[in-house]
Amino acid sequence: MMDMWFDIIEGSKTLLELDDARIKIIGKNGELSKEFANLGKLPNAEKKAFATKLNSQKAEITTALNNKKILLEDEKLKQDLLDDSIDVTLFSKYKQAGSLHPIMETMDYIIEYFASLNFDVKYGPLAEDDFHNFEALNLSKHHPARDMQDTFYFKDSHLLRTHTSPVQIRTMLKESFPIKMISPGAVFRRDLDLTHTPMFHQVEALVVDKKDVVSFANLKDILTDFLKYTFGDIDVRFRSSFFPFTEPSAEVDISCIFCEAKGCRVCSHTGWLEVLGSGVVDDSVFKAVGYTDCSGYAFGLGVERFAMLLYKIPDLRLMYEGDLRLLRQFR
Ligand code: DAH
Repeated sequence: MMDMWFDIIEGSKTLLELDDARIKIIGKNGELSKEFANLGKLPNAEKKAFATKLNSQKAEITTALNNKKILLEDEKLKQDLLDDSIDVTLFSKYKQAGSLHPIMETMDYIIEYFASLNFDVKYGPLAEDDFHNFEALNLSKHHPARDMQDTFYFKDSHLLRTHTSPVQIRTMLKESFPIKMISPGAVFRRDLDLTHTPMFHQVEALVVDKKDVVSFANLKDILTDFLKYTFGDIDVRFRSSFFPFTEPSAEVDISCIFCEAKGCRVCSHTGWLEVLGSGVVDDSVFKAVGYTDCSGYAFGLGVERFAMLLYKIPDLRLMYEGDLRLLRQFR
């Protein structure tokens, strides 16, 4: 009997078959279990020896069942692993990684530069209202920048922001000075020609502190450092200009990186390239946000312009055509 049972156990090919064998042999009505029922029929003198024999047989069978179970479980695990296996050495269909657009690349560079100087990075809504985009920035009701030609208007004096300067206003209305922030993002103007697109990107900056702590000298310093770090061995010049929200105001030029200031088509034979607008924050702006006894400077730059200069991209339109031959150069 025992040999036959061992054969059945040994011959089980699956855990299910093994369980059937267990039930058949030592289950409640199993063959070995039935033997125990015969115990009562034996004379007392033989009972003990018979019971001992049955118990040791049951122990042997149980051990055999357990050993076989471990073996079959092990085999099943191996088979499952084989069935589910993933070949991590296979090449992916998507092995060509994408890349950031040169505009985003440039924006990230600018953000990183100023973040490393402890400027906070702030974002504002693309759809603005008249107050934040114009009024609070000292752009009076009849200022030409409000002209229908330049601004995309919605109903109720809402509009697509024409610059990132409204984030200055939003920040000052929410927080008290000292403030040291930049704000990158898209801006919109009704403009389309060789050098203008209806959507482009700016990075705004604003620094405000107690009266006389921040001056035009600080502005000159930080921008000169930034431009020389970015473009290398160039000259920087601050040219007197006008913005309603700064007084005094300056446009900032760098010596032409294409012709080394000798004069070429890109710099219109002036030897200079205009790269940003800047100035000392006008008191009327502080008044609009309820700030007193403070001083500050601000500047705003066009990201496309920077990207074109940094990567020597000759035509603004290339930025928006999605031509892979351009984009692949930025991998
Ligand atoms: N907002 C101006 C523009 O879109 C750029 C600018 C000029 C921003 C001077 C400033 C600034 O913060 O001080 O043309």
